[in-house]
Amino acid sequence: MAKQIQAIRGMNDILPSQSPIWQKVEAVIRASVSAYGYSEIRTPIVESTDLFKRSIGEVTDIVEKEMYTFADRNGDSLTLRPEGTASTVRAGNEHGLLYNQEQRLWYTGPMFRHERPQKGRYRQFHQFGVEVYGIASADIDAEVLMLSNRLWEELGIKEHVELELNTLGDAEERAKYRDALIAFLEQHKDKLDEDSQRRMYSNPLRVLDTKNPEIQAILVDAPELMDYLGEESKAHFNTLCELLDAVGIQYKVNPRLVRGLDYYNRTVFEWVTTSLGSQGTVLAGGRYDGLVGQLGGKDSPAVGFAMGLERIVLLLETLELTKDIAPEVDVYVTAMGEQCVAEAFKIAQELRQAHPSLKVMSHCGGGNFKKQMKRADKSGAKFALIIGENELNNNQVAIKPLREKTEQQLVAREALASQIAELI
Ligand code: HAM
Repeated sequence: MAKQIQAIRGMNDILPSQSPIWQKVEAVIRASVSAYGYSEIRTPIVESTDLFKRSIGEVTDIVEKEMYTFADRNGDSLTLRPEGTASTVRAGNEHGLLYNQEQRLWYTGPMFRHERPQKGRYRQFHQFGVEVYGIASADIDAEVLMLSNRLWEELGIKEHVELELNTLGDAEERAKYRDALIAFLEQHKDKLDEDSQRRMYSNPLRVLDTKNPEIQAILVDAPELMDYLGEESKAHFNTLCELLDAVGIQYKVNPRLVRGLDYYNRTVFEWVTTSLGSQGTVLAGGRYDGLVGQLGGKDSPAVGFAMGLERIVLLLETLELTKDIAPEVDVYVTAMGEQCVAEAFKIAQELRQAHPSLKVMSHCGGGNFKKQMKRADKSGAKFALIIGENELNNNQVAIKPLREKTEQQLVAREALASQIAELI
């Protein structure tokens, strides 16, 4: 037998059994962005490598070791997008969407990072994100957090996620803090691991994000960025906290929250769950007022987030919240004998026309009663319609419940659509 070709490690098929969960998450996303008046943007999966280097930052895990970068046939360096923010800014600048305007945008699609695959961490994964441009005040930071909170409510996972919040201040404030942090780290240089030593000068804030417990213990005494904030940054953060309090969104201020991408300033946040092991961040983002200018546009304030869809699907599965997701089929229409196939098709068609949202599957491929009933059961349908010669001669259809122990009933063909509507 020929050797089977396997999928690429860390890149998953989403199988028919899982699709309904994905569709449910996607439906909640669409309903939520629509309820907040956001517009969709779709950008290419491949961009110039420079776009990500200049936005995410040269000294970040993503750019240093996780990008899928390759030479195009003409020698240009291209990269499969590792995230959506850079592409959204690029598109916004290129099409004049950002200059002197407000935009509230959203997107969803696959992203690519060459990370070590494990539960909740993949090399191709999917993000849903929002990016808002042109609003500098903290009310919009609160709004994007309210939008994310609505997702948890709609998905029924509100009790299982927590919001962590921090502020990184502005560039000058961070520069001052950076010096203080480097001075602190220098005092403990010999106790730092290789990664932290390497980052100490190039990107010292990332040292705060270490997962190494020994270094975390050292960092307990490190200077805190909050103490280096100017009045405006402090006021921005306080306003955000007040608005979140006012709309009843709980949060924990985490002064160690720094994020792994370089473009942030002021607000940063992560929604985390303890139900997924080490990959517990389900949604993350913040403000990035410098990026639009940094990528060649006219300066525009910006804030946004991205959510990992695989992690949400995993969370729904872990919490066993996938049981009442509607099956793909409501009604399975059988045809007992070749002479019944055409009429059975017509009956199925009449039902679809009468109830456009009803999911009707016609049996194809013949077979006896037992085989057709087995298929009906496997389809997940609530009811099978039994259409045989007897039924057709009497202008009737038998409705057989498949999930409940109620009696099969015979109905006149004209009454079928209304009877099904009552039963479903
Ligand atoms: P990020 O923190 O790199 O931020 O990713 C956001 C979310 O994507 C993570 O919290 C996680 O749920 C999911 N995610 C990231 N990497 C993986 C992976 N390898 N496998 C599965 N899920 C993953 C950003 O990407 C920023 N662009 C967010 C943003 C938008 N900031 C402002 N606007």
